[in-house]
Amino acid sequence: MALLEEIKAPIKSEMETFEKKFRHSMKSSVPLLDKITHYIIKRKGKQMRPMFVFLSAKLVGDVNDSTYNAASLIELLHTATLVHDDVVDDAYERRSFFSINALWKNKIAVLVGDYLLSRGLLLSVDKGEFDLLRLVSNAVREMSEGELLQMEKTRKLNIDEKIYFDIIRQKTATLIAACCATGVASNKKDEETIQRAKDFGEAVGIAFQIKDDLFDYGDGSKIGKPTGIDIKEKKTTLPLIYALNNADNSTRRGLIYKIKNQNNNDKKVREVIDYVKESGGIEYARKTMMEYVDKALKILHTFPENDARNSLEQLVEYTVNRKK
Ligand code: IPE
Ligand code: IPE
Ligand code: MG
Ligand code: MG
Repeated sequence: MALLEEIKAPIKSEMETFEKKFRHSMKSSVPLLDKITHYIIKRKGKQMRPMFVFLSAKLVGDVNDSTYNAASLIELLHTATLVHDDVVDDAYERRSFFSINALWKNKIAVLVGDYLLSRGLLLSVDKGEFDLLRLVSNAVREMSEGELLQMEKTRKLNIDEKIYFDIIRQKTATLIAACCATGVASNKKDEETIQRAKDFGEAVGIAFQIKDDLFDYGDGSKIGKPTGIDIKEKKTTLPLIYALNNADNSTRRGLIYKIKNQNNNDKKVREVIDYVKESGGIEYARKTMMEYVDKALKILHTFPENDARNSLEQLVEYTVNRKK
């Protein structure tokens, strides 16, 4: 598997310029905010979304001011949703270190998330990027709807595959789709091409979230955020859905009882996780994830080959083979 650094080769200088712009886009004269945004910049993530934006731009043209605006807006909104997500999920680790809510508590984390969101909105308005703002705002609306759908459905534990795919499409895939669509749109105004880029991003995004959900069943090794918390949070993801659907009635009832009523008991949670593993739920989720990879690559191959397309291909592969 190619390293992230190798995949970045065709956009190396663009990523460096992006980092400066991104840092600038968060700047505040309020000391507490300044301290927290510094902390966020220092603990940056993989920056896969800006990579999708720049590589998609180069798939059909080149990186320009609009491409930079799209990358900054999307990474700001992504960061905002992670800060909020850790409050919602009660998660104390992010990017191999303490989450914002772990260090500064929920109240401050909520306000910091709002601040990042507002900076994204202002950036688009200041640059007159209204098409970009519309596309990305729709993605953020879907993310909120996806997270709420997840809460509503998982509480009741009556979730089937269709609902699972609705949830992950909304909460994760739409934003990655927006990366590819805005990257292309910064060069080409042609609707059909933009839609194709969006479909590509959506398929990668679904594979991306299945991979994230598989991490939760991992051995807890160095992914930089908590594992084993989805069942505690009654979050029903694909491996568990498969296990529940393929268990006999009494086993299913037993599993549901543990998830509903014993989710604070580590031993019981462990038993559910072990059952999911024995049932073949992990293999099933992997297989499904690879179907989305195939779908993404098929769409990608409708674009003419160049360095950016080759890097996007590797980025798709990285999405499902990554270690964090
Ligand atoms: C995490 O996204 C949130 C999900 C949609 C699962 P990333 O794994 O891209 O997070 P960072 O930005 O690299 O930390
Ligand atoms: C993804 O959900 C977060 C958003 C799309 C806002 P998760 O809760 O599964 O993400 P991680 O695992 O905490 O990064
Ligand atoms: Mg989370
Ligand atoms: Mg997760």
